[in-house]
Amino acid sequence: MIKTNFKDHNCGELNLTNIDEQITLSGWVSTIRDLGGILFVELRDRSGFFQIVANPQINPQVHKTLEKVRSEYVIKVVGKVSKRPEETYNEKYPTGQVEMYPDSIEILSESKVLPFVLDDENVSEDIRLKYRYLDLRREQMLSKMVMRHNIVKAIRNYMNNLDFLEVETPILCKTTPEGARDYLVPSRVQEGKFYALPQSPQIFKQLLMVGGIERYYQIAKCFRDEDLRADRQPEFTQVDIEMSFVEQPDVIKVVEGLIVDAFKAAGVEVKPPFIQMPWQEAMDRYGSDKPDTRFGLELFDIGDIILQSEFQIVKNTLENGGIVRGIRIPGGAKYSRKEIDDITKLAVSFGAKALANIIYNEDGTAKSPVLKFVTEEQAKAIQERAGAQAGDIIFFVADKPKLVYDIMGRLRLHFGKSLNLIDESKHALLWVVDFPMFEWSDEEGRFKAMHHPFTSPCIEDLDKLKSGDLGNVKSIAYDIVYNGTELGGGSVRIHNSEVQSAIFKALGLTEEEAQEKFGFMVNALQYGTPPHAGLAIGLDRLVALLARTDSIRDVIAFPKNAGAKCLMSDAPGIASLQQLRELHIKSTANLGK
Ligand code: AMO
Ligand code: AMP
Repeated sequence: MIKTNFKDHNCGELNLTNIDEQITLSGWVSTIRDLGGILFVELRDRSGFFQIVANPQINPQVHKTLEKVRSEYVIKVVGKVSKRPEETYNEKYPTGQVEMYPDSIEILSESKVLPFVLDDENVSEDIRLKYRYLDLRREQMLSKMVMRHNIVKAIRNYMNNLDFLEVETPILCKTTPEGARDYLVPSRVQEGKFYALPQSPQIFKQLLMVGGIERYYQIAKCFRDEDLRADRQPEFTQVDIEMSFVEQPDVIKVVEGLIVDAFKAAGVEVKPPFIQMPWQEAMDRYGSDKPDTRFGLELFDIGDIILQSEFQIVKNTLENGGIVRGIRIPGGAKYSRKEIDDITKLAVSFGAKALANIIYNEDGTAKSPVLKFVTEEQAKAIQERAGAQAGDIIFFVADKPKLVYDIMGRLRLHFGKSLNLIDESKHALLWVVDFPMFEWSDEEGRFKAMHHPFTSPCIEDLDKLKSGDLGNVKSIAYDIVYNGTELGGGSVRIHNSEVQSAIFKALGLTEEEAQEKFGFMVNALQYGTPPHAGLAIGLDRLVALLARTDSIRDVIAFPKNAGAKCLMSDAPGIASLQQLRELHIKSTANLGK
């Protein structure tokens, strides 16, 4: 440790081997108790706790000073480490066998009464975020910061050992292609122009490959102005990777090694190779491109059976490009009317127009309004397809594929959680591969890139790209999924400017727009671009999952709340009229002071 005049030992590291050592400690007063005139202080620093005792008979001066001390004061004590009487050993702390009767004590800093009790679990997150600097004093927060550090350290070690170069890329940039809204920064010197904060270093890391760096990584800050959720922050951190002269399997191998080391830093052992599941299979079996494979309840398809039936409403849907998927809930036949209604309402809240069900009674009969549209044979075929036993219920939805997958995927997760089917001790890591290149956006009435527009289409699908059959173009993209969360994603990139232009065109960008936005990138591709590929892992998500917390806010020292606000500093703040004027921004009435 770094020895200073304030401390030459850490509180939490003292034990019987330190007996009789004269030491100096500094830290926070965690608790102070007066037992029959003798004061007991639990002194805390980053390493842990240590007991300080002041007896007026032994050292009246120290006792007098300590009497003035309150919770969270910062004090310095000098004295000898002594052994505690054995009957007072405190098993709660590693230092519970030793203590100190200080020779001297100094109050370094006083503390007001804290706005909340540090280890009270019922304090609202808003209060904790407002006083984050106090919240960080809690062991639960500290241990997450330590874990994050250890994971980053392990990742850096791993990458450095594989000859990756860590290169920093700009924060003030032009728009980047990840598909979220940009954070903009107005330029003072270039009137009317704006920088965009990077949604990822994507373009720069590819240009580093053109620049001959060959193996790049960065622990990179990214900024995305999107609707926030527990696993999304407006600014977050990626472990960003790019490599030249590689193909998909090479990237996967490097990342699997990284995952092994990162998990090990958090005390978790995982063994690659991880399963590789085609995107279509993930959607069909789990209704999700980030399947949680820690439990079953896999979806099934009864489209072919329904098409033979008189179930007209669903048949129409199927004949118009729709699909139908079902889920079987073992033992669900016992659900009450109300329970089934609630499940239906849940499906409706996920976007379903209707949720059909068939109950398979214990006595072997089946009950459902649907049965009037199907023959006995078809009903039997449905039961077989579902694998339904007496006592089960099945639910199914027919609609457009994207919606059906989404509804059924979410229902599956709902049942997984509510029926306690998720084995929390499992570490389910898998790759989702063979993604479609494009996905149709109903809102925008055009195809969008499923990853980003620099992702390489599969070579076999280049003809489809040319003929405009965009829905069937696959890309060379891959996501890594852990326990149902997308940890990271990447792809092989386009290294040919003509293919790049064709993709921009398919995405509906005019040549001028493409040139305006990404022209420098397309130009760069014309000067000898190595085949390259990469991936980015969401570091906050990785740490949150390993720390077993639901919210990435818990593993970020100073996060934003759901309104993208920093409750501590009150950012974003108001700019002065002077600042706005300099930035060539006209203020409206309540903007600027
Ligand atoms: P992508 O957009 O999939 O890929 O992002 C990679 C990973 O970053 C994490 N992530 C987030 N974490 C917290 N808050 C957010 N708002 C947020 N958004 C994304 C996720 C995600 O898997 N440039 C490409 C990577 C590449 O192709 O190399 C990219 O950014 O864990
Ligand atoms: P009814 O409205 O009584 O004629 O029955 C229609 C049945 O079909 C109900 O059980 C509905 O839940 C079901 N149904 C209607 N539309 C869909 C759909 N898109 N997906 C699944 N089931 C549907």
